[in-house]
Amino acid sequence: MSTVNNTLVIKGAKPYGEDPVDIEVTDGVITAIGPDLTGDETVDATGLVALPGFVDLHTHLREPGREDTETIETGSRAAAIGGYTAVFAMANTDPVADNSVVVEHVWRRGREVGLVDVHPVGAVTVGLKGQQLAELGTMARSAARVRLFSDDGLCVADPLVMRRALEYTKALDAVIAQHAEEPRLTVGAQAHEGDLAARLGLAGWPSVAEEAIVARDCLLARHVGARLHVCHVSTEGTAEVLRWAKARGTRVSAEVTPHHLLLDDERLSTYDPVNKVNPPLRTAADAKALRQALADGTLDCVATDHAPHAAQDKDCEWSAARPGMLGLQTALSIVVETMVVPGLLDWRGVARVMSERPAEIAGLPDQGRPIEVGEPATLALVDPDARWTVRGADLASIAANTPYEGMELPGAVVATLLRGRITARDGKATA
Ligand code: DOR
Ligand code: ZN
Repeated sequence: MSTVNNTLVIKGAKPYGEDPVDIEVTDGVITAIGPDLTGDETVDATGLVALPGFVDLHTHLREPGREDTETIETGSRAAAIGGYTAVFAMANTDPVADNSVVVEHVWRRGREVGLVDVHPVGAVTVGLKGQQLAELGTMARSAARVRLFSDDGLCVADPLVMRRALEYTKALDAVIAQHAEEPRLTVGAQAHEGDLAARLGLAGWPSVAEEAIVARDCLLARHVGARLHVCHVSTEGTAEVLRWAKARGTRVSAEVTPHHLLLDDERLSTYDPVNKVNPPLRTAADAKALRQALADGTLDCVATDHAPHAAQDKDCEWSAARPGMLGLQTALSIVVETMVVPGLLDWRGVARVMSERPAEIAGLPDQGRPIEVGEPATLALVDPDARWTVRGADLASIAANTPYEGMELPGAVVATLLRGRITARDGKATA
């Protein structure tokens, strides 16, 4: 008996913004690309740009521990609506994801929800305390097959611990993602150290606290021959250090957040803690340098640092507020606003920074793939001409801490497909 394969045809989509085609999908795989294809089911994608599904190397899903702000289910919904097909869930949960029990829980729950591939990030050190290495090998060999390790939220500050971590991850073919912040230089820090923080009376978070760690870690990674990934680059000086390190062959990659591309510390004058984030919003000159560095490849990719926080942890005085902002559902639009509209990236470039490079950095074999016959139908369909207004309360996350409240943004994700299955459509997740 022959099996009947249902085919889905995406009509009139423009791969990477180029000429429109029909894309036939059978059993999760692209089986034909051409004109006038027909199938059992069709999706009208006239005028839409088809891109490989986005991969986020830096997401806080808050489960286990803070399910009042986000769960693997709600975060997966936000991700799918935002065009993501894979996310890396940071380890600073409660309990910390520093062992195989927690990482396997996150991985399994992600599979049950089934909207995006949820890959747990393992902690580098036990309890994120920066002292004793966590069981990296056990997490790597667990069902979750952890390949990205990070103490994000905190820096692996001790150079000997960082060296040992790099040695271990080199042997495991894994990557350390460093939250670069020299803690001795940021005691009590509340805002980017500069004129504005001085005027507002907020303790400064100097750029050098980030740059010194990135420089040190690039030297360590080169010495060990290991790979290093730098989280949420926020300063022009860090981009300069990365340019130097890459030029001399260091195996380093780096991400930038949408908020550091768009926003700057002028925002702080309202004292609204929705703008409090770690690393802090820097100067307009830093943001401009980061956009340039993303365009020229010094910065490899965009990662959201999606950080949901409860209202009581944000609607309070600045110093008591937790750092972080939502990002999954607004990332594409911010990249369009900061990179596509000014001509710094075309749609091929968007595919590179949102999907291909992050998939390569994390070693995902079936994400960030070209839109070609034989490849997985793991796609984001984007309306390049749409404009929409951000409302935190309407986002799929439980928390609502978006810095873009009320802003009208360009570009919208119309549908997301994960291995041929539609996971979000018209702003709603399908599960
Ligand atoms: O703003 C931030 N929020 N930066 C981090 O490094 C951690 C994150 C969080 O967990 O809220
Ligand atoms: Zn961080």
